Amino acid sequence: MSGPNQQYDPVEVAALDPEEIERHVHEALTAITQVGDLEEFKAVRQAHAGDRSPLALANREIGALPPSAKAEAGKRVGAARGRVNQALKQRQAELEALRDERILTEEALDVTVVAPYRQWGARHPVSLVTERVQDIFVGMGWEIADGPEVEAEWFNFDALNFAPDHPARQMQDTFFVAPADSGLVLRTHTSPVQARTLLHRDSSRLQRDLPVYVAVPGRVYRTDELDATHTPVFHQVEGLAVDKGLTMAHLKGTLDHLARALFGPDARTRLRPSYFPFTEPSAEMDLWFPGKKGGPGWIEWGGCGMVNRNVLSACGVDPDVYSGFAFGMGIDRTIMLRNGVSDMHDIVEGDARFSAQFGMEI
Ligand code: PHE
Repeated sequence: MSGPNQQYDPVEVAALDPEEIERHVHEALTAITQVGDLEEFKAVRQAHAGDRSPLALANREIGALPPSAKAEAGKRVGAARGRVNQALKQRQAELEALRDERILTEEALDVTVVAPYRQWGARHPVSLVTERVQDIFVGMGWEIADGPEVEAEWFNFDALNFAPDHPARQMQDTFFVAPADSGLVLRTHTSPVQARTLLHRDSSRLQRDLPVYVAVPGRVYRTDELDATHTPVFHQVEGLAVDKGLTMAHLKGTLDHLARALFGPDARTRLRPSYFPFTEPSAEMDLWFPGKKGGPGWIEWGGCGMVNRNVLSACGVDPDVYSGFAFGMGIDRTIMLRNGVSDMHDIVEGDARFSAQFGMEI
């Protein structure tokens, strides 16, 4: 069964009405002219030339027309779509040109502008002087050693002949590590490494045999407030020599060599009697150098002495066979003297503008 065979009049298909098609074209061309940028352009193209645009839908209707009407309708819709596509193509080119022009102006680089000065990083003078000091000792055939900054109270005090109630324990103004019975302190000096070295306790190193010649640079802690001349965290270098027949003359010669290597050929040291539990005799060491600020003069530089027999015994070294000397001086203080730094804050703060003045070698 089939229905009545209706005569198909193309004019009756609303979508294919020439006026209707002309209206779609007009709408499309208006939208295309008005579109302002490529983003919007996509939406306009979708609306007027996409699969679901009025002209695309009209095109689909053609298939349903009787053969006699197909050709004309096809031509009409094809021409309409051609005009729209042509307008789209042209507008797209215009919009792309506008975008390129905008990018060229907006993103233009003025290659003649003077670049802002970039601060280079710089090695800290503490590192530089520490390395320098290490080089000086290595040059004399000494070894470089180190030890922990969180140190056993025993190494920091007991092994160094500080009696349990010795005032020096308070004198040192120690940071004790909690809990109270931990037995740990932040080392107050690099001297505990003397005992560690003699006891071969540093498991990261091969065991050492006597004689021993070690230099120990490192960070130390005391409960001082930071001001122009103090800091709670500072740096020392320790020296320890234990051998047969060492005397204070060897100590003095070593210190003078270090002073000259760091402060120039005219530098020298002098010793003043003093007291440390771990050396006997003990001395304060003064340094004479030509002077950076304020001219030449004697300046306190560190402590030293002959290793106390009790320390040697506590570390299993026979004090009747071996003797030793030891010394310790502040690295930060060395920098202040040597380079005329008058405020400790400069050394602590780590501002690259300060460090940069020292260059790569000082
Ligand atoms: N450890 C001492 C201090 O920090 C310095 C020192 C080292 C003295 C070695 C004698 C021998 O003050």
